[in-house]
Amino acid sequence: MPVPGPGYSITVRVEAPSSANAAGDLTTAVGQVGGVLTAFDVVDSHPDAIVVDISANVLSAEHADDITAALDALPGVRVRKVSDRTFLIHLGGKIEVTPKVALRNRDDLSRAYTPGVARVCRAIAANPEDARRLTIKRNTVAVVTDGTAVLGLGNIGPAAALPVMEGKAALFKKFADVDAWPVCLDTQDTEEIIRIVRALAPVYAGINLEDIAAPRCFEIEARLREQLDIPVFHDDQHGTAIVVVAALRNALRVVGKPIEECKIVVSGVGAAGSAIIRLLLRKNPGDIVAADIDGIVHADRANLDDNLRQIAAATNRSGMSGSLHDALVGADVFIGVSAPNLFGAEQVATMADDAVVFALANPDPEIDPLEAQRHASVVATGRSDYPNQINNVLAFPGVFRGLLDAHAHHIDDEMLLAAANAIADVVDSDRLNASYIVPSVFDTAVAPAVAEAVRNAVREQRGEDE
Ligand SMILES: NC(=O)c1ccc[n+]([C@@H]2O[C@H](COP(=O)([O-])OP(=O)(O)OC[C@H]3O[C@@H](n4cnc5c(N)ncnc54)[C@H](O)[C@@H]3O)[C@@H](O)[C@H]2O)c1
Repeated sequence: MPVPGPGYSITVRVEAPSSANAAGDLTTAVGQVGGVLTAFDVVDSHPDAIVVDISANVLSAEHADDITAALDALPGVRVRKVSDRTFLIHLGGKIEVTPKVALRNRDDLSRAYTPGVARVCRAIAANPEDARRLTIKRNTVAVVTDGTAVLGLGNIGPAAALPVMEGKAALFKKFADVDAWPVCLDTQDTEEIIRIVRALAPVYAGINLEDIAAPRCFEIEARLREQLDIPVFHDDQHGTAIVVVAALRNALRVVGKPIEECKIVVSGVGAAGSAIIRLLLRKNPGDIVAADIDGIVHADRANLDDNLRQIAAATNRSGMSGSLHDALVGADVFIGVSAPNLFGAEQVATMADDAVVFALANPDPEIDPLEAQRHASVVATGRSDYPNQINNVLAFPGVFRGLLDAHAHHIDDEMLLAAANAIADVVDSDRLNASYIVPSVFDTAVAPAVAEAVRNAVREQRGEDE
């Protein structure tokens, strides 16, 4: 049975009798209908009545109604108001701009703004590289979306995507002190997106593409990388690939298999799957077999698009065709970034001994992790309520911190692999085990380690190139 988590939590304000057993009655009522009580605050008190805010995690809107009804049904209790705590923290948005300079008097004003600022403008006009020294550019990233592939919600458009992009910006600031700003575009036209991002690039030292549907995301990223002199990084692709490669390195340490001898099955060849495969190929795996909604990807399959043709050419050495279930037979590793409930424990049993299963489809994985662990030695998911959470937050803040610090003009696979190694290395051999192959997203060692690795990779390349 699913357990309510903090993603959906409510606060119910009730008026209740001031009797000795009132608190017990209220909390019992919440528990009896399956709510998880998280706080009980008396906000007002009178001789014969108390006013209480009861906070609880719930499963759904219907479940919230059940809890409210259970409280309301108690003798002498009246529900005054029900607030959705997730909506409450979104009121007015989640980020803001704060000036770094004091503007107390005319003197301050003349330096921060006109007339003094004009000399700074002229300096940048004469030497555009000075923009990194004298403006926000140095530390600022655009989080760009067209709202076409938002979470698991699909094409919900730019305005509905904004809460996710604000959240992303908040994570950038919290984990790596990067100033990121949401740029939600009201167009789904590839050429127009490229033109707009190119035009707004002067303000930014990096572009984080987000929640743009495949296959358009591949072309948009590739063309922007060609045209811009700042790094362009599609987090759904490369953030995921970095964390998967890190987690796989540690999972294979646990089971003692070299990647060069592993057959890896990747289910899902969209944004995440394609990037995972491309980065894994840099590690010389024994073989990779990719499968999507139409089965195993092989060179002779009909109607392959450009992306799938490239994947087919670089994977599936034995030219297998068939279904995902066929691919799993004898495989050492399964990586799923596709769809829920595609197989069960019986298919895991057909994999090689000491199998590794990463079932990352969100919110419901390709296989129930408890089923998977009946036959697999290491299991990971994208979920926070299970060990080994594959979460992009482990990668993107530190990646951009490193890129911005090094004034990087591009990003490439060497930097992605450096980031993956840094994440894997945070889990030292004393802590490594089947339930701990990636660090916690709250491990404060992660972002600085990733940033340092990326900074070094940029500088090493520059040393070689210049
Ligand atoms: N850190 C994480 O845990 C993480 C990161 C990225 C993506 N994901 C999850 O991975 C999934 C895919 O994300 P994406 O952005 O690559 O999506 P996408 O739409 O770009 O690609 C989806 C892929 O899955 C395949 N697919 C769909 N239904 C299938 C089925 N029934 N059987 C086999 N293959 C099927 C499609 O053919 C396609 O190749 C989502 O559930 C997403 O939430 C998780």
